[in-house]
Amino acid sequence: MRLEEEEKAILKGARGKAAQISMKILVALGKIYGAERLIPVRSVQVSGVSYANIGEAGLEYLEELASDGRVQVTTTLNPAGMDLENWRSLGISPEFAEKQKRVIEAFKRMGIVPCLTCTPYLVGNLPRYGEHVAWGESSAVTYVNSVIGARSNLEGGPSALAAAIIGKTPEYGLHLEENRRPDLTFVVKAKLRTESDYGVLGYLIGKQALGKIPYLRGIEDPDLNMLKSFSASLVTYGSKPLFHIEGITPEAEKYDPPERTVSITSHDLKEGYKALNDSVKEVTFVSLGCPHLSLSEVAEISRLLKGKKVKQGVTLWLSLARATKALSDAAGYTEIIEEAGGVFACDTCMVVAPLKGRFESIVTTSAKACFYCRGKNQMAVRTGSLKRCIAAAVTGRWPEGEDYEA
Ligand code: F3S
Repeated sequence: MRLEEEEKAILKGARGKAAQISMKILVALGKIYGAERLIPVRSVQVSGVSYANIGEAGLEYLEELASDGRVQVTTTLNPAGMDLENWRSLGISPEFAEKQKRVIEAFKRMGIVPCLTCTPYLVGNLPRYGEHVAWGESSAVTYVNSVIGARSNLEGGPSALAAAIIGKTPEYGLHLEENRRPDLTFVVKAKLRTESDYGVLGYLIGKQALGKIPYLRGIEDPDLNMLKSFSASLVTYGSKPLFHIEGITPEAEKYDPPERTVSITSHDLKEGYKALNDSVKEVTFVSLGCPHLSLSEVAEISRLLKGKKVKQGVTLWLSLARATKALSDAAGYTEIIEEAGGVFACDTCMVVAPLKGRFESIVTTSAKACFYCRGKNQMAVRTGSLKRCIAAAVTGRWPEGEDYEA
């Protein structure tokens, strides 16, 4: 790699220990992936925030970096293992809370904004088209690469943090134009109406586009919530963190659809739901907000819950950024949802909170949450539309009828 004089000096320790460690990480990564140089990034999103995931070794590493490390660009944080304010009411132990707070304090000392969300693009960290960024949350990387046309590789926790402290990242992978070309075409012949339909579509395409970039045709008019659901699921099940949709995403018009073509039919969607879902009938935990809820989703939940009550014995969680919750408070949605018995879990989610052993099953709109709750938290899973999830919260049973309406 060609390094500038200033970068060489940082490597020798001219800007302190944290910057030296960070530069070593970036140079090592650059060598592995054949980058020729470092390029500036405009923002960073750091994952690996939950103490449940990073443990004592991660906490020690962060506290060491925080002794003299300071970020050079806008840097935001992924969800933590708990709601920083209401952790007690969510059943988090004081021991866990103490460790989690130390993790957040270390990040804050480095100058990182503790917005604690996987949808930072909804609350102020919004890249523009073509901008280079270094983000770590897979759903968010996929969203900003594809829907916005920004450029990010899928960073690990340490490499994102290193990019934040240096303000640069090695130029390889999805930062380079030639690596953003689609590899195979998916013609979607199924009607898609809900976020969970888009989650299941991501599951179906992700599995077939392993390590590749899909180009989609036949998609009509997805809203932001559908695109964030698709982004989360696609990358979880195997695709690269980038997709193009004809007539929808900004880079699609640069490319002809690749010749290799796969069709996705209504039958595939039905089978996708069946493959993802366990047979959860009695419902005890409904968790919404993977990726974190947008304001329009919170509004829809309040509309569906108005005048109803969550059934006794059922826990309904809404995971979202604290900034979105503040808007929900102001709009009056919070009052309606809490009156019905819904619980806000800001700063965290059903996957990164230490929930293993607390619930046997989960009901959710998110295909991504199905993957991690089944694997990491060992829960039985069921995904369906927001309407069906709220009906399950109110009755304590998964509603009759098809999960997918053709
Ligand atoms: Fe976000 Fe947690 Fe899902 S970090 S994308 S809500 S697994």
